[in-house]
Amino acid sequence: MVRTMVAAALALIAFASLARAQDADTEKAIEKYRQMLRQDPWSNPGLLDVDRGETLWTTPRGPQNVTLEQCDLGKGPGKVDGAFAELPRYFADAGRVMDLETRLLWCMEKLQGFDAAELTKKPHPAGGQPVRELGAIATYVANKSMGLKYAAKLTEPHEQDAVALGENLFYRRSGPFDFACATCHSQSGLRIRLQGLPFLAEKKAAAKVIGEWPAYRVSTTNVMTMQNRLYDCYWQMRMPELQLGSDVSVALIAFLTKQAEGGEIAAPGLKR
Ligand code: HEC
Repeated sequence: MVRTMVAAALALIAFASLARAQDADTEKAIEKYRQMLRQDPWSNPGLLDVDRGETLWTTPRGPQNVTLEQCDLGKGPGKVDGAFAELPRYFADAGRVMDLETRLLWCMEKLQGFDAAELTKKPHPAGGQPVRELGAIATYVANKSMGLKYAAKLTEPHEQDAVALGENLFYRRSGPFDFACATCHSQSGLRIRLQGLPFLAEKKAAAKVIGEWPAYRVSTTNVMTMQNRLYDCYWQMRMPELQLGSDVSVALIAFLTKQAEGGEIAAPGLKR
């Protein structure tokens, strides 16, 4: 009896270490694949959306038939270079803190006359569909901060409130599964099925990945924006749909940006 138990325990240990070795191999292989894609930066299909976004930025559109070239992303109307690196920030004209996508939504509504409710009804693409216009523009703007370090100040009181709210939401368990973001993102080496779970509660780990958004996702063959990423994570928690531009979405992005302070912007990144 004891002998069978010992044998079973040994078999389990052997199996567990085999599984761990396989994990390490899989991780290594995926990392190699990412490296190969990075070595040839032009192999990233997300760059097509950068170009598409630039065209959209400079094309007169919407009921007002104007371009977005008067849109102030925080550095003055029409200034795109380096603007993403300083977002989210408080915008006095809107009276609230905004991340990139929320600000673009605001400009599309106020300058071009688009209906914001219409734009946020189904803001994210289904798998295989290209990222929507707003997302393509976000990809273009983020790409214009390529190589810069995240430098959002987040010191203005509204900004501090947003970061604090985001931090609370990150650690707060809620929804039918009683999950917090932290349930999946506050340990290193966690996995869900085959996917490694990024360790976002740690600043060093967050700094490595946050600057890669918007990112081209190989599994869905389209660019996914940060608002879309968080929408999906909330969906995994079976929480109500995350509204693009909502205070909750902005707060979470403000917190994640704070976590990633000093991290480099490399958007569009490439994700599995
Ligand atoms: C049930 C587990 C789960 C929960 C809860 C969860 N996520 Fe995620 N998250 C994932 C998975 C899975 C991925 C994608 C991993 C992949 O595709 O390789 C991911 C990816 C991310 C990424 C992209 C990181 C990277 O590697 O670039 C961010 C940012 C993120 N989540 C934020 C959040 C936030 C904020 C919350 C809370 C609102 C949250 N997640 C809740 C599972 C979860």
